[in-house]
Order: sequence, then structure tokens, then C-alpha cells
Amino acid sequence: MGDDVFVEDPTVNELEALCANMFGMEAAIFCPSGTMTNQIAIKCHTQPGDEVVCEKLSHIYQYEGGGIAFNAGCSVRLIDGDRGRVTAQQVAESVNNKGDVHKAQTSLVSLENTGNRGGGSCYEFGEFVAIKQICEQHGLALHLDGARIFNAIVAKNESPLGYGQMFDSISVCLSKGLGTPVGSVLLGTKAFIAKARRIRKVFGGGMRQAGYLAAAGIYALNNNVNRLAEDHANAQAIGQALAKKDFALELLPVETNIVICTIGGRYTAATLAAEFKKHDILAIAIAPTQIRLVLHLDVTPVMVEKVMAVIAEL
Ligand SMILES: Cc1ncc(COP(=O)(O)O)c(C=O)c1O
Repeated sequence: MGDDVFVEDPTVNELEALCANMFGMEAAIFCPSGTMTNQIAIKCHTQPGDEVVCEKLSHIYQYEGGGIAFNAGCSVRLIDGDRGRVTAQQVAESVNNKGDVHKAQTSLVSLENTGNRGGGSCYEFGEFVAIKQICEQHGLALHLDGARIFNAIVAKNESPLGYGQMFDSISVCLSKGLGTPVGSVLLGTKAFIAKARRIRKVFGGGMRQAGYLAAAGIYALNNNVNRLAEDHANAQAIGQALAKKDFALELLPVETNIVICTIGGRYTAATLAAEFKKHDILAIAIAPTQIRLVLHLDVTPVMVEKVMAVIAEL
């Protein structure tokens, strides 16, 4: 082990180089969580008083404790998108006029792929190209919350290199479908990552002998990417089983490893989650009427059979 705060842990350095190379980006930094990689990126791309453009369901807005304001001192312009996704036109309409002193300066656009609250929704890559053009016209940075980027890459048969060309920074989570215990990687230019290293220290995210964690990340990137297709097939099967029930009012299209369904009638989302729990099936009521189930590498085919049998009995 070495000390990663001094950039001297060989395994962390190897993980960072591996991930940066996969996406064709200059540099990377390993952090304890996806919240931290997102928040560091937002802090690095903005000045206090700036405005960040994102979709209304974005993790950075909904689930990071108000960190955009707390950590970066920025306001947020929310876009009412489609299952977590925005269009280039909506982004263009959300950019404040730089010459208007009344307005906060727009400096960052943040996208999420796959979209968590959108039910694991995927962007069409062409939309990124169009959004990138708008960002270039207005001098805005473009960040990707790629907590589940590899689910999108596998589902859409895309290349990480394409993403590397499109975004100024990308956050990649290793601890979700990829199955590691801890950690996310933030990607960007050398200069951006040097700044991120300073901010990570300020946020308390500099870890010392972090190589043990990074080793799991290296294993996941080398072994657990292609198998995400199995999680997607399992999510499809569970989604279809759920959709047959009268209490399943609306199933969001299942594009990757997330199943989100609107629940009504005999169950609320909370009572359905409680019913599942009796059978050791963990699901979250993400809203009073919405339940979420997520597939990952620890959910085996036998477990999927069991979930479907339990759903059939409800
Ligand atoms: C889309 C998205 N971004 C970021 C995160 C944050 O990751 P972490 O839980 O590692 O902070 C999550 C976690 O659920 C997520 O779903």
C-alpha cells in the first residue's frame, strides 16, 4: 500500500489510469462515493453565484443534500424533462443571458445516464452531441453523472471513448451494478483533476491506503461490465411480472437494471415494499405511489425466479 493523498498508492494509480484510458480522458481521481465525485465536479466547474442546469429528477439535485448550494454556492435551473432526460432545445432555453446583470451566470450543464429516477432510462447519443454544441456556443461545462454509465453503454452498445469526447467530466460509480464495496471515479483533463484533488481533500475524501478498494474497482472494470446485460434481462422479467398485477398502475419502460412502477389500489408503494420484505426482497418506496427495484450482480437467477413467484402470488 502507498498513500493516495500523496498520489503514491500504486493500485489507486492503476485504477485511475485504467478508467481514464477506457474513456480516452486525460486523468482520473478515485473518491469514496458518487455523491462526492459529482459534488467535486460541480465545485470545480463553477463559481459561487453561478447557475447549474439539470433535469428535475437529477440525483445531484434530489439526493445530494442540497450540495449544489452547500458546497458550490450555486443556484439550479431545473428542466422538466422526459424520464430524467433533457433535450438540447430545453438546455438552450435554460441558459441565462450573460449580459443581463439580474441573472445568475449559467456555467454548467449536468446530465445523468442512466437516469435513476427515470427508471434507468438511456439517452440517445445524438442528443449529447446536440447538447454539447449548445454548451460550446455558450461557454458552458458539460458534466455527466455516470453512476450507471456502463449500464447505458451495454444497453445501447456504445463505446466509453465516445463519452470521453463528449463530456468535460464524468463520474463513474464502481459500487452499483459493477459490484465493488466502495468508490467512484471522476474523469477529466489533467488540469481539472489536479483541481479536483484539492477539492477532494477539502471535502475530506482523501483516503490513505485506499489500494484495497481500488483493487476491487480494477476487478470490476475488467470483469463485471459485459455481464450487466444479465441484470437488464432480469429487470425485464421482473418488470413484466409486475406489470400483470392490477395494483401496478404504470411501469416505466425497463431499459436497463432498474424497475420503477406506480402502485395503487390494494397497495401503496410502502405496503408493497413491506410485503416484499417479508420474503427477503428489498425494494424502495421512492414516492408514496412509486416503488423501485434494482438488479445487480449479487442477484442470482434463482433469486429472480423467487421474486417472480412472490409477485405472481400477490
Ligand atoms: C444517478 C446517481 N448519481 C449519484 C449517486 C451517488 O452515489 P453514492 O451513493 O456513491 O454517493 C447515485 C446513488 O444512488 C445515483 O443513483
